Amino acid sequence: MRHFTSVKDIIDPNAAVQEALEIKKNPYGYQHLGKNKTMILLFFNSSLRTRLSTQKAALNLGMNPIVLDVNQGAWKLETERGVIMDGNKTEHLLEAIPVIGSYCDIIGVRSFARFESREDDYQEKILSQFIQYSGVPVVSMEAATRHPLQAFADQITIEEYKKVKRPKVVLSWAPHPLALPQAVPNSFSEWMQAAGYDVVITQPEGYELAPEFAGTATIEYDQDKAFEGADFIYAKNWASYSHYGEILSKDRAWTVDSRKMALTNNAYFMHCLPVRRNMIVTDEVIESPMSLVIPEAANRVFSAQCVLKRILESL
Ligand code: CP
Repeated sequence: MRHFTSVKDIIDPNAAVQEALEIKKNPYGYQHLGKNKTMILLFFNSSLRTRLSTQKAALNLGMNPIVLDVNQGAWKLETERGVIMDGNKTEHLLEAIPVIGSYCDIIGVRSFARFESREDDYQEKILSQFIQYSGVPVVSMEAATRHPLQAFADQITIEEYKKVKRPKVVLSWAPHPLALPQAVPNSFSEWMQAAGYDVVITQPEGYELAPEFAGTATIEYDQDKAFEGADFIYAKNWASYSHYGEILSKDRAWTVDSRKMALTNNAYFMHCLPVRRNMIVTDEVIESPMSLVIPEAANRVFSAQCVLKRILESL
């Protein structure tokens, strides 16, 4: 594998999960792969889990990780080509990217959707420039349209806890005070369908994902009906795709609570975190024995480690 930006780079997600579970049993077994190899983790946006789990994965593989918060301590970067740089941006991405690439063997990039232009976000303008100009493999640590390391960790977690071969996995929109990107639900939907699960998406009208990400998932606008017989409930907020970046609803009737969880097949509750309690999910549900939010976050180490191992093996 050269770059990792979506499930399409993995080819067989079920085989990758088995590989990640083997790594989980023996996390220090591949340290020779990363000896004298450096990974730079570049954050344009905040992070707790991705920052720590990807560093831990690199360390487990014997690599030297370096973290750079672009907006704290680096020069302010211009990302648009052709602008007269007479403002507060000191350096252009087109110089910064190859310079960073010259210092490392792998680059991880986190760059969220900006909600200024749907076309720019959905063309992955920032991530694709790293792929084009860095000269080294690039790992998405959440880009404008996808968060593949999260979705991979989600599948690892579902495989560890599922009670039936093909579980019913429900992606449920839930309310939030701010406009959030579609990267997590896009990747989750795409990845769960590639894994072969029975995928249902429930959302208010106007929150449909882009067709390429909704794929062939069943769409159900009645959240109660969607929850019936579910084995896993994956809650997430996202802003509208059709009215790009807009908040169309903050309806707390969509908050995941115990009454709704009782409609399911004793489903597990999942969320990528960070989560706004009593907006997305009630205290009672997230603290219940059926909540997988902590093991799901812990599996971020092993999704990252599997991806980095495959890239190191290809260098
Ligand atoms: N789930 C996730 O990516 O968490 P962070 O934003 O804290 O990295």
